[in-house]
Amino acid sequence: MGTRIALLGAGRTAAHLGLALAAVGQPVQVLGARDADKARPLAAALGLPVLSPAAAAAAADWVFLCVRDAAIEPLCAQLPWRASQLVLHCSGATELNALDAARLAGAAVAGFHPLQLMADPLPSSAEALRAFEGIRIGIEAESPWRTELDALALALGATPLHLQAGQRARYHAAANAAASALLAPLDLAARQAAQALSCSTEQAWEALAPLAEGTLRAARARGLAGALSGPLARGDAAVLAAHLQALQGRDAELYRSLMQALLPLAAQRLEPDALEPLIRVLDRAADPS
Ligand SMILES: NC(=O)c1ccc[n+]([C@@H]2O[C@H](COP(=O)([O-])OP(=O)(O)OC[C@H]3O[C@@H](n4cnc5c(N)ncnc54)[C@H](OP(=O)(O)O)[C@@H]3O)[C@@H](O)[C@H]2O)c1
Repeated sequence: MGTRIALLGAGRTAAHLGLALAAVGQPVQVLGARDADKARPLAAALGLPVLSPAAAAAAADWVFLCVRDAAIEPLCAQLPWRASQLVLHCSGATELNALDAARLAGAAVAGFHPLQLMADPLPSSAEALRAFEGIRIGIEAESPWRTELDALALALGATPLHLQAGQRARYHAAANAAASALLAPLDLAARQAAQALSCSTEQAWEALAPLAEGTLRAARARGLAGALSGPLARGDAAVLAAHLQALQGRDAELYRSLMQALLPLAAQRLEPDALEPLIRVLDRAADPS
């Protein structure tokens, strides 16, 4: 009999992982959830019954705790572990010591963190598989589990990325900076464009979205400095000063901070004498006296 895999939790990560594993021919055999009614749609999609978390943990060899970060440690502490098991969580931020209860019972512990945004509560099989294609999966595990988890990541179409203990807060801050933090300048952009164009923020975002997508495509093709455009790429201090004058209040402050944060990338493109006027404009905006 092969390895029996259980998912505990029936949220977005469990849905993507479960459906993608089924799509690559490595289906999970067990689904556990604290609320059977809420888990029913995923259970139906996976063709599995919903067990209690304790029954699911007891019935599997590998057990993925796909629950929100704060629930990992207390849930792990309530479950009946045994020495032959591998107990995993899917969090980027939570250190593996949240799984100490399983370790104390003799089980092995590991982390398996898809570096991906999974927003859909119940994707189709194809969407779930697409979410893993070409991504990195952050893996923290000891040998021989690491080799097996690397193989699982590869089977999903992803590439393993080995995480170090003690580095998760920094790693997850980086992930958050590359994901949700992008929305702050996009929100500023949509509101300011809505004012300039006398339209709704939704219409403004529609107009701006291809620009944002083009920037990400350029950043992947040419690197971050290579994707820089606008006054910071051209050393155009007059246009930058006009931008700063047009904005007020918190948006002006955020825009200035964002432009300052881009100076190291601009420095990779511009000669020092072209960079200097940009720095002066940004410093002047910070200190209008
Ligand atoms: N979504 C993403 O983009 C993403 C990406 C990478 C990693 N992750 C990680 O994956 C993990 C799960 O995140 P998610 O986005 O899938 O969350 P989610 O969609 O909110 O689902 C969380 C699941 O955990 C269950 N749960 C919460 N507290 C529980 C408890 N005390 N006991 C048993 N079950 C409990 C919930 O059950 P109820 O419905 O009963 O509350 C729900 O089924 C987190 O560690 C997260 O950091 C998420």
